[in-house]
Amino acid sequence: MSEAIQITATGTPGPFVLVIFGASGDLTRRKLIPALFHLYREGLLPENFAIVGYARSELGDEGFRELIYQSIAEHARETGDEDESRRRFNSTVRYQQGRYDDERDIRRLAGRLQAITSELNIPANYLFYLSTPPEMIAPIAEQLARVQLNHRGPNPWSRLVVEKPFGRDLTSAKELNQILQQSFAEEQIFRIDHYLGKETVQNLLVLRLANSVFEPLWNNRYIDHVQITAAETLGVEGRAGYYEQAGALRDMVQNHLMHLLSLAAMEPPVALMADAIRDEKVKVLRSLRPIPARCAMNGVVRAQYGPGEQKGQSAKGYLQEDGVATDSTTETFVAFKAMIDNWRWAGVPFYLRTGKRMPVRITEIGIHFRSAPQVLFNAKGELPANFLAIRIQPNEGIAMQLQVKRPGLTQAIEPFLMDFGYADAFKQRLSDAYERLLLDAARGDTTLFTRADEVEAAWAYVDPIIQGCEGKGTLPQYPAGSWGPREADALIEDEGRRWQLIKRKKQ
Ligand code: NDP
Ligand code: BG6
Repeated sequence: MSEAIQITATGTPGPFVLVIFGASGDLTRRKLIPALFHLYREGLLPENFAIVGYARSELGDEGFRELIYQSIAEHARETGDEDESRRRFNSTVRYQQGRYDDERDIRRLAGRLQAITSELNIPANYLFYLSTPPEMIAPIAEQLARVQLNHRGPNPWSRLVVEKPFGRDLTSAKELNQILQQSFAEEQIFRIDHYLGKETVQNLLVLRLANSVFEPLWNNRYIDHVQITAAETLGVEGRAGYYEQAGALRDMVQNHLMHLLSLAAMEPPVALMADAIRDEKVKVLRSLRPIPARCAMNGVVRAQYGPGEQKGQSAKGYLQEDGVATDSTTETFVAFKAMIDNWRWAGVPFYLRTGKRMPVRITEIGIHFRSAPQVLFNAKGELPANFLAIRIQPNEGIAMQLQVKRPGLTQAIEPFLMDFGYADAFKQRLSDAYERLLLDAARGDTTLFTRADEVEAAWAYVDPIIQGCEGKGTLPQYPAGSWGPREADALIEDEGRRWQLIKRKKQ
């Protein structure tokens, strides 16, 4: 490999204290702690650094350290001198018990933080990670402001990382933005969407903007349509309490899919700076042709997985899952066509689909070019069109389907796949999205976080769809382990196209 050109801030952030609210919870255990542990092992956290877990549970420093030890044993992917690095990592960890909306408790936290920063001899740089149920976000932000833990910086600084879901509709998202912005400045608020931390999502910008071959083709003259698929094999996995209130439109479309769509479709930004990139993403979201509530039932396919089979095992239907109402109309699958009414994309359909309990786990953006004129080669039918697949996961990489001549004396043409895989090419493991995002938040880089107007623009598009569909009509079922209902195929086939994914090369 030739020498790399650095495009974003790198290196270790300055000293800081990470405070995790909701530290006794599932996200902390499964994602945050393993990500922090990996960063620590790789020397990407500063020498003078501390983690403070905060929650209502009576854990104490030792109880929380035990939780962390278990979390690393179960979820960290790295092996090696585990005992030594875990012991050193654990020495950075403390726990503070308290309620989230109680000023006295938060004041006690402020006292503890002061003691920690004096002990470590570091400035009061605080990264507050809100890993609690969403209804606790506003009270925590308000309490932090009340006890003056919201100092804007730059030196010392205080920042807030806010987990999804961000609101459950446009109105609640706007309200939450207003409340947060009364206590913290926008540049202190890091709305997290873990899709933005994925390697291939970031590579999308590099692919488009660092390779001169693509930009001239990246428009309605050369692109016939775009497909975005986010398929999961998992079902609701014990998260029914949350998922019943969300469904695929809120859980996946409003956030993850809207980010993929806007990054694929945006104009080149004036600079690779957070606001310049986010400005362009917002313009795409605002150019989306609205799907009014009255049209949503016809234009949007929603469905629910029924009993079926996956990898040879029988799988329950959604209605049979623990915690799901027997008459639930929550969708676990969505497919629809989005149109972007701007100069670049006029007339190019973007077909989006996402579902749980699909046959394989794959997230892919497919750029389908127009077919070459057929006058020269093929008297019998259309030449297959070129197709660029940006594989977000798994087997992260990029593949391009080209037409080549089959060797021999006959003039036969067949499709050939040029397939770039990160694992093969770089022989190094990819970081987990949370590693990247935690590090960026500590460095103060907001590029991979959602800005207030971005989250509102995404809601403004998705909200009418939800209003038009929620609780109305019957929901078609698809067998677990299938690609969704027939209606999803009809959505694209009625327009002379078909869902396509690149056959993945094993790595
Ligand atoms: P949990 O339900 O595990 O909650 C985290 C902690 O919050 C709990 O340990 C509990 O701590 C406290 N808590 C729970 N319910 C309440 C309540 N009603 N009132 C006050 N405190 C409560 O959530 P997760 O860890 O799964 O998720 C945290 C956040 O991250 C959520 O916003 C979620 O939507 C988001 N998220 C989670 C993902 C995941 O995979 N888990 C994926 C993507 C986003 P205690 O009782 O000790 O105070
Ligand atoms: C989360 C959703 O945000 O993303 C889950 O709440 C979903 O329902 C998950 O399973 C998918 O993330 P990934 O990284 O596995 O594609």
